[in-house]
Amino acid sequence: MADIQSLKEALSVSPNNLPLLLMLGDAYLEELEFDQARQIYESALEVDPGNPVARTQIAQLLELDGRSSEAILRVDQVVGEHPDFAPAWMMRAKLALTENNGREARECYEKAVSIEPALQNEDLLKRIRQAGGRRKIEESREPTPQATADKQAGAYYDSEFEEDDFDDESYGDESEIEIEFIQRTDVNFKKVGGMDAVKEDIRMKIFYPMENRELFEAYGKKAGGGVLLYGPPGCGKTLISRATAGEINANFLSVGLHQILDMWIGKSEEKLHEIFELARRNAPAVLFFDEVDALAADRKDMRTSAGRTLINQFLAELDSESAENEGVLVLGATNAPWHLDSAFLRPGRFDRLVFVPPPDTEAREEIIKIMADGKPVSGLDPQALAKRVKDFSGADIKAMFDQAIEASLSEAMKSGKVVPVTQKQLAKCARAVKPSTKKWFESARNYALYANQSGFYDDILKFLGVDKP
Ligand SMILES: Nc1ncnc2c1ncn2[C@@H]1O[C@H](COP(=O)(O)OP(=O)(O)OP(=O)(O)O)[C@@H](O)[C@H]1O
Ligand SMILES: [Mg+2]
Repeated sequence: MADIQSLKEALSVSPNNLPLLLMLGDAYLEELEFDQARQIYESALEVDPGNPVARTQIAQLLELDGRSSEAILRVDQVVGEHPDFAPAWMMRAKLALTENNGREARECYEKAVSIEPALQNEDLLKRIRQAGGRRKIEESREPTPQATADKQAGAYYDSEFEEDDFDDESYGDESEIEIEFIQRTDVNFKKVGGMDAVKEDIRMKIFYPMENRELFEAYGKKAGGGVLLYGPPGCGKTLISRATAGEINANFLSVGLHQILDMWIGKSEEKLHEIFELARRNAPAVLFFDEVDALAADRKDMRTSAGRTLINQFLAELDSESAENEGVLVLGATNAPWHLDSAFLRPGRFDRLVFVPPPDTEAREEIIKIMADGKPVSGLDPQALAKRVKDFSGADIKAMFDQAIEASLSEAMKSGKVVPVTQKQLAKCARAVKPSTKKWFESARNYALYANQSGFYDDILKFLGVDKP
């Protein structure tokens, strides 16, 4: 480990040198100088806003500070965007362990080690084994076909985790669920490129009703209720939902649904009720559930899916007829709305749907500008590049940038000088990224054509230019 003084000297000559910043951050961390470490990692993020190393280290600092929910949120973003970045998975495993979620800890640990075997850590593995308490929930739920297949394949139950490893005392106290109050200052629509129609839709369906409740009620319209954002992956549903918090004059609570799903049977219903009550007490409030399709009973692709009682509980809480949801708006986001029980989409529940399409050329241009902002990029022609990356989602554009930046960075490390990212390099990386939205539209098209009760998915057909059958 290089010493702090010499790293500082080197940085005074080249203050935006990312590898140096990361090394200094690590050195501070090693010396247990947490505040300084945090500051340096933040500076690293100013140089490279998405940097997974700095973000993972900041998560570690948050965890050391007892803010594990925030840490989890951050690491989840990192693994979402960089699924091959093993240290983030390892950090995620440690955080799951803090939360006493042995099963998740183990899944993340294995993921990390499968990517980077050198990360193996016997001590951690032992602690994960001791905390493997969630298994009992899995067993008492109705197993999905996938879960049964997984079980046969030994996915959650291999011999490494024997029955004896689960002692009752290691089951954690699950009474605390993470609810994030997103501050207005954290995010806003400026960070979201394009999507003008979606922004306007959100204004009409969320802001105006929440901010003019009396007026709406005078016309017999509800201010609360449910709005569901849906669309292909990586096109900004999560981003714009969180940015909504920065625009609206109401409390914004973001809830990790997966944590609720991970609870003991019976406990999750109770928690869900408490969360809605919390929002009611804090009205006007937006209650945000990301990836709400986790509540779908027939989801085969997820390790957790909700039981019937939890779904019923959610429906009852959501129901504007039976529940006192005055001034509480429930915002959900999903890329698989068709997996949701159709009861969710009935009037008084998620009855306002907002389609979040892939970015059009102008939106891609804006996203490119947002991504290039503050980075060493030279000769960028956002318009030309936007045209080139047809069918790209925001996440695909981000992947293109990440690749180009990594290439420049390794050049920079060799030469010791900042090597800017060029248009040519971005275009080259674009060729290596496979646009991810097309596949989604293949299945979406079928749902929109053949399972389109009440015209829910008309926006998809409109987008595809397909006539209704
Ligand atoms: N309109 C946009 N403006 C700026 N960045 C964007 C935009 N859309 C997507 N991105 C980038 O892509 C990343 C992924 O977007 P996001 O997580 O919001 O997608 P999503 O629609 O929620 O996907 P999923 O269905 O997989 O959850 C964002 O973190 C952001 O970096
Ligand atoms: Mg999302």
